[in-house]
This record gives sequence, structure tokens and C-alpha cells, in this order.
Amino acid sequence: YVIGVDLGTSAVKTVLVDPKGKVAFEHSEAYPLSRPQTNWSEQNPEDWVKGTIVSLKRLMEVSGVEPSQVDGISFSGQMHGLVLVDGEGKALRPAILWNDTRTTAQCRKIEKTLGGKLIEIARNRALEGFTLPKILWVQENEPEVLSQAELFLLPKDYVRYRLTGDYAMDYSDAAGTLLLDVGSKQWSSEIAEAFNLPLSICPRLVESFEQTGTLLPEIAEASGLLPSTKVFAGGADNACGALGAGILGEGRTMCSIGTSGVVLSYESNKDLNLEGKVHFFNHSEKDAFYIMGVTLAAGHSLTWFKETFAAEKSFDELLHGVNDIPAGSSGLLFTPYISGERTPHPDANIRGSFIGMDSGHTLSHFTRAVLEGITFSLRESIEIVRESGKEITEVVAIGGGAKNEAWLQMQADIFGASIIKLESEQGPAMGAAMLAAYGAGWFESLGACAEAFIRPAETYTPNAEQAALYDGIFALYQDVYSQTRELNE
Ligand code: XUL
Repeated sequence: YVIGVDLGTSAVKTVLVDPKGKVAFEHSEAYPLSRPQTNWSEQNPEDWVKGTIVSLKRLMEVSGVEPSQVDGISFSGQMHGLVLVDGEGKALRPAILWNDTRTTAQCRKIEKTLGGKLIEIARNRALEGFTLPKILWVQENEPEVLSQAELFLLPKDYVRYRLTGDYAMDYSDAAGTLLLDVGSKQWSSEIAEAFNLPLSICPRLVESFEQTGTLLPEIAEASGLLPSTKVFAGGADNACGALGAGILGEGRTMCSIGTSGVVLSYESNKDLNLEGKVHFFNHSEKDAFYIMGVTLAAGHSLTWFKETFAAEKSFDELLHGVNDIPAGSSGLLFTPYISGERTPHPDANIRGSFIGMDSGHTLSHFTRAVLEGITFSLRESIEIVRESGKEITEVVAIGGGAKNEAWLQMQADIFGASIIKLESEQGPAMGAAMLAAYGAGWFESLGACAEAFIRPAETYTPNAEQAALYDGIFALYQDVYSQTRELNE
């Protein structure tokens, strides 16, 4: 067996995977998120460590698997979150998470100071969620904290350090800090120096599948595992999600709809320059990359809509009604910018809209319009990837958006591509388990592991008539941003 640990924003999920890629057991432990001020989002790193140990312990207890049968553990982690540790490895303040947007001023400073160098080196624009703006926020607002910091870590790297005593960060997660030279896979002294940061606060860089120690004896005891259990570095949740969906070669694209939505495409060319229109990160496979667009409020738009207008209904009831509504929601259009947007509009201030309301519209029209609006937003990312010269004829759907048939067909019709649903889908936790399986020597390559572990189940092909109708509405959808931007300024 191998274990995959997915350190998420609301919970940690552990999966015990057998050599055929089947999840034998899984367990989740939730932890709180605190919002001490508007736009702030923090977590206590100690909660992650406790949650992970408890989850591992439960996993071992319920499975009844002998600890000696576990060949390795690896991780997937929420990206970008800042953990500052002192010389003893103690976290100096609560972690500042990816969805914390207090750093707009620091982002402007980064773009102004580095100009074109930022995209050239870090390959991404400065966005509030990324790590460097958070470090600069601490530098400006809590200088005494930064001066005590020996190292900065990302969430899963902190947890792995506490489990093994080893400091390390893998390239796929380091790519989301804005301090990595993504193409040459080294920390950028040029960026660190520009902001008076010593390069020594950047941890040792490793590959996602590289072993970074074994379990500390006290951790092994608390979690029901052996101290000799091998621990592999792991990767960013998006890289691991891609791995778990088999996105391991040119032409492979996935669409993941969870709280946020992601369109992610494999990239082998390290010099591809899309001017920061989509994220460009290192993959968890050696010397591979991926490009990715993000819809901030994807599933979040749907949950918000249900809680606000149909709290008494279950999701199934609400979504069932969508089947009775024609494509295009009889003229009703929704834009999902309810908490700002990332791709194609990196704008934390814009807000969403319903346009074209008619007195004949019902709750089901609104629900369908919400699903369509989320999917149009993801199509914007699909189009940017297509503009880079990639053909997208097939997209693997994962996450909550892959659980509803009407939504899967809608993705096929709106993207103009076949949508593949997987037989069993475990998201980033499976990617983490695959890193452990490959690291432990079960397979010759991650590709071979994907072949053995991932099985497509169903394919949804675009309906030509609906696809043409959606093409027309998509053009209107694209105009809404520029026409409504000033409403919230
Ligand atoms: C990616 C991002 C999110 C987090 C969620 O840039 O901010 O997808 O990784 O965990």
C-alpha cells in the first residue's frame, strides 16, 4: 500500500491505495479557518499537523493493514500559503492562506519593481493569493516576525517537516511563490534581492517524487506507522489533481470544478510565454509544466446561490430542475464574479451579475444560468489555452462538477470538446498516492503509474446545435466584464 495525504483548506484527507490503484480506505479530518479581518484568511499550522496525525491513525485503524505493508507516504497541499518558521522550526504566526487577499498593495509593488522580469523569471503575474506578496506584507506590517524567520514554507511542507524533521519544498509548489525561476528550477536571487529578502529563507528544492526522510519515532507511534516509512515530497494540489486525472502528456487537459474552478493543460515547453494570462507552473513530473486558468467562485457560486435562494432544497433537488430548462436558460445570463476573478480578469474587485431576467423565469432557470455562467468562465481559460496553439478536443472532468450529468453535457457543449469522466476519482489525494507509488519504485514512470491507476468511465460529446447556441451566448458573456466593471469601483 501507499498513502496519499491531501492537505486542503477545509480538511485533510488521507487515502490508502493498493497496487492496482484502488482506494482501500480513506479518512478526513476537518480544521477551522479564521477570518480575523475582511480579506484575511488564516489557519493554525498546528491544526494541520494534528489533523494529519489523527487522520493517519484512523486510516490505519479502520483498514487493519499492517504498518509494514505501507511502502510510502506523500502529500498534496493547498498552494501559496505562507508559513514562517524560526530556528527551532516553530511557526511564528498563523499561516496566511491562498484565499487571503490583503496583499493588493504588495502585488502592485512587485509588478512595479520587477516590470517584465516578473513574467520572464517567475512566469506568473503578481496575484494576491501568491506567497511573495504575503512575505512582503509581513515585512511591512510585522517586521519583528520576519526578522525572526529562518525559513518560509508552504502548508504541506510544514506538515512534512513536522512528520520527518526534514525541510524541503518541491518545484510544483515552489512555482506558486513568485520566488522561483520556473524555467531553470532555482530560487531567483534577483527577485529576493529586489525586496531585501535573504535567499537563505528559501528551503531546499526537491522533485515531488523524491524521498525527504522517514517518520520521526514519536510521529510513527502516534499515527500507527513504522519509523522506517518512507516519506516523499509531494506536490501542489493542482499538480497532484492533474496527476490523479492522468494529465501527463501534450494535449491532455482537465477541468476541475470545486469551490474554485480550474482548467489545466500539460505543457512540455519551458519557454512558452503566455504573458501571464494563465498561470505557468512546474508539474510534479520531472521537467514538465502545466498552464492553468482559475475561476475563483465556481462551485462557490452554486453554493452561494443555493444558500441564498433555495436553502430548503438539497443540491440534488436543485440540480434536477435544470434538466427541464433549455440550453441558454431562456435568455438569463450569470457571471460568477461574486468574489472577484482571476482568469481572464485578474481583478479582485469585480462582482457578478444576472442579466436578462424575465417574469417567466423560475428557480430552475436561475440554477441553470449559474451552472452555465461558471462554465462560460472556464471556457475563457480553455480559449486562452487554445490561443497558445494547443488543440483541446478532450477534457477530463473532475471535482463536484463531474458528479452531475447535466453539467457534464453542458461542459461538452460549452467547451466544444468531449468530456471524459473517470471511473473513480479521488482528486489530489490520488496524485499524492501516485507520487509515493512511483517514489517507492512500484512503477518505472509516473505515466506507467497513471496507466495502471486511472480508468476513464464515460464520455460526453458535444451536441452540435447546443454548442452553436452556446458559442453565441459566450460572445455576449465575454462583453459583460467590461460593461459592468465600473459598478464596483
Ligand atoms: C491555485 C490556488 C488554489 C489553491 C487551492 O493557484 O490558489 O487552487 O491551490 O488549494
